[in-house]
This record gives sequence, structure tokens and C-alpha cells, in this order.
Amino acid sequence: MLSKKLKWYPLFESQQELDELFIGKHAVVHRSMFGEALLVKDNGNYYAFKNKCPHQNKPLNDCELNEGHIVCVYHRYQFSLEDGKGHGMCLDKYQIKTEEGRVFLGKEVWSLF
Ligand code: FES
Repeated sequence: MLSKKLKWYPLFESQQELDELFIGKHAVVHRSMFGEALLVKDNGNYYAFKNKCPHQNKPLNDCELNEGHIVCVYHRYQFSLEDGKGHGMCLDKYQIKTEEGRVFLGKEVWSLF
């Protein structure tokens, strides 16, 4: 039966590697075997999203942050860091976890099992 499952992809070998990537930055576009993801740091917390604004599918590379929201620079729409919601749309959010020192990104995938 076809169902959605969370699949974890390795992003970084250590939390330090992730922290160093964000020195002087609040958002980074990361490419890996997972594909492309927008990583955001706000108040010491990390978030991961699909790097496409749901308004017109433009990249969020130069996004800004405003009080717990990502601000798309094209038309200034804002999306919550907590759930990706904003302006009646939803920015796809991915989960991030640290396990045994390594950082993983979780994405829902369709599975037969
Ligand atoms: S493309 Fe992002 S707000 Fe319009």
C-alpha cells in the first residue's frame, strides 16, 4: 500500500559544521544527495524548507527574517518558521535532527512499504 514516510538524509557530519556555515548569515542554500534545501537560523534554532516560494516558485536564497517569519524578497510575502504557513499558502518545511553528532534532514517520501 502506498503511504508517506519520513526519510532522513545526512546533511553534516557534525553540529559544528552546520554552525560554521552560518557564521555571519541567517540563511543558506544547501545542496546534497537530498537535493536543494533552504536552511535558516533564527534565535539559535535551525529550520529547513524547500527553496521555492509558494507564491511564484522563486528561490528564497536572499530571504530575510522578520519576527519568526521568512520574508521572500520578491513580493515580501512572509511564511512562519514554525509551520511554513503564510498568505493562504504553505512553504514546504523539512525536519532537522541531530543523531550521534550528525545532522540529518527529514523529508516525506512515498513508499510502497
Ligand atoms: S515569489 Fe515570493 S512573494 Fe512572490
